[in-house]
Amino acid sequence: MARTRIPLIAGNWKMNGLKADALSLARVVAAGVKQEAWKDREVLVCPPATLVMAVAEAVKGSGLLVGGEDCHAKASGAHTGDISAEMLKDAGASHVIVGHSERRTDCGETDAKVKAKAEAAWRAGLLPIVCIGETLAEREAGKTLAVLETQLKGSVPAGSTAAKLVVAYEPVWAIGTGKTPTTPEVAAAHAHIRKVLGGLMGDAAGVRLLYGGSVKGSNAAELLAVADVDGALVGGAALKADEFLAIAKAA
Ligand code: PGA
Repeated sequence: MARTRIPLIAGNWKMNGLKADALSLARVVAAGVKQEAWKDREVLVCPPATLVMAVAEAVKGSGLLVGGEDCHAKASGAHTGDISAEMLKDAGASHVIVGHSERRTDCGETDAKVKAKAEAAWRAGLLPIVCIGETLAEREAGKTLAVLETQLKGSVPAGSTAAKLVVAYEPVWAIGTGKTPTTPEVAAAHAHIRKVLGGLMGDAAGVRLLYGGSVKGSNAAELLAVADVDGALVGGAALKADEFLAIAKAA
């Protein structure tokens, strides 16, 4: 049975933001979200770990959600520099991005690691946003759908349900480049993702599938109107309150 998929507009701040500017960005976004009082969409910001707690406190009561950009698979232990899902939860997060292509590339994260992180998110009571996406070489070789399928099979934990999983499709070549796939290309990728998830989960009709990669105010409406696109994961444009709110409005 299909279930209503509430659009999710998620901002990924990446390694950007010192306290003063980050808090003012968060406050302006939160004020916009509070004013709109949306019941038909969710808006999330994922600041760097150092700012999760301060942002969560600053936006409390606004309806703006706060998440982490990554977490370790373990709850605690000898993992210098890492942050657990439990720590994010304790800081006020409700969501966590896992398997972003920058982590897969910079930190050598494998599908198995990403899956363990998604399971850690569940353990802590966070909703994981599992990222997948092909490189330019893979797209040019005609391997996009096969790559997405492999990543999904490796990264999505058993026991996933629509309430426990969000998937973000982010073509690596579209991240931070100003380039986006055509809307038929996005539609084909998302349809394939839902089909593969259906095979893994039994029923994936209710799972939210976000598109990410150079989403901005001016292209959001077109991308969000594509079949099977249930929201956006936004990098650069999430650092400007007016751009990010324009994307949320387009949802
Ligand atoms: P971008 O990044 O919007 O700057 O392309 C998206 C992402 O990496 O999540």
